Amino acid sequence: MIHNSDTRKKVARLRADTPACENVVHFNNAGSSLPPRPVVDRMVRHLRREETVGGYEAADEVADEVESVYESLAVLVGARSEEIAITDSATRSWLAVFTALPWREGDRVLTAVPEYSSNIIAMLAAARDRGITVDVVPSAGEGEIGLDALRSMLDERVRMVAITHVPTNGGLVQPVDEIGAVVADSPALFLVDACQSVGQVPFDLEETGADAVSSTGRKYLRAPRGTGFLAVRRSTLDRLTPAYLDLYSARIDGDRVRLRDDARRFELFERNVAAVLGLGAAVRYYLDVGPQWVHDYVTELAAHLRERLADIPGVTVTDIGTRKSGIVSFRVDAIPADVLVARLKERGFHVTVSAASSTPWDMEERGLDALVRASVHYYNTPDEVARFCAEVASFSR
Ligand SMILES: Cc1ncc(COP(=O)(O)O)c(C=O)c1O
Repeated sequence: MIHNSDTRKKVARLRADTPACENVVHFNNAGSSLPPRPVVDRMVRHLRREETVGGYEAADEVADEVESVYESLAVLVGARSEEIAITDSATRSWLAVFTALPWREGDRVLTAVPEYSSNIIAMLAAARDRGITVDVVPSAGEGEIGLDALRSMLDERVRMVAITHVPTNGGLVQPVDEIGAVVADSPALFLVDACQSVGQVPFDLEETGADAVSSTGRKYLRAPRGTGFLAVRRSTLDRLTPAYLDLYSARIDGDRVRLRDDARRFELFERNVAAVLGLGAAVRYYLDVGPQWVHDYVTELAAHLRERLADIPGVTVTDIGTRKSGIVSFRVDAIPADVLVARLKERGFHVTVSAASSTPWDMEERGLDALVRASVHYYNTPDEVARFCAEVASFSR
């Protein structure tokens, strides 16, 4: 697919919407991708209106469009628009759900080995402050969560199963539909961190059977920085009381506080309206490009990159997973990850270091320290992969 001429024409059109493609090889899409022109234009246009008429007045003008952003996000993750809340990051979204559960001493949370450190920090803090137990389900097969182990660890004390769909440090796509089917037989709430999957691996709240999903805008979705969102199923909402409320998420009724009855109970009043409009533009753009096409292209290009890297003497691809994402991780014997990343950046290749501190359980279990992470998107090409690998090869001697 990645080499055929129709695909090449489509990618060329998409690259024309992404001016930075002319100057850099951006393989840092798992960090923050390059936003397409319509996203940036939408934000700039709104900022100009704020400059001209004032922030509240400019917001009034786009009230309907802001509503439509909820609808687009709902389509994106297979939810209803009243199940969507817009935030400013994936962590804010994840924490909003995690901290809204009324944890009691003795409760358990089950999670997987390649979890993201910020989520682990919140779980361990709840263990310290609330007396809950954090249990890590062992991995099986190629690194995905062990479904039999998960089944055997689920008991009536498990209040939540929290799983990252696509871990930050390479390869793995967790089988969230199968996990959801196992969790469905228990009273536990199933929370999915889709920070790295939304925009590359289609996710559907309904099909997965997840109670809630958290994500960001800036990674594979190509939305502005400082945007994120969550979806919480209607049937789960009343099990959750947000840690923070204001006059937008709740109202005063005599001496009582009444929560909004939709997922916007997780929002506060103030927001960056330009960024929200940019998020909406990014979701529409992605839906227009075609989620299945994006998935197939990104998966194939990443597989191609893995193969080319593996052919370079002194390079080891460190990805796990039977099913793999657009995130490729590797190390080079001859040069430390941070030095290689800096050298590549000087030559116009954007990749990052994936440090052990981001996914501490997985990196420790596999005896890994720092890795180079090259995450590809649909505006990247086989030619860029070839140029990148030639550059890596020049450092590996
Ligand atoms: C899997 C995963 N979850 C959560 C996050 C945190 O996202 P944010 O920085 O938007 O809070 C990241 C960031 O890289 C991530 O890779």
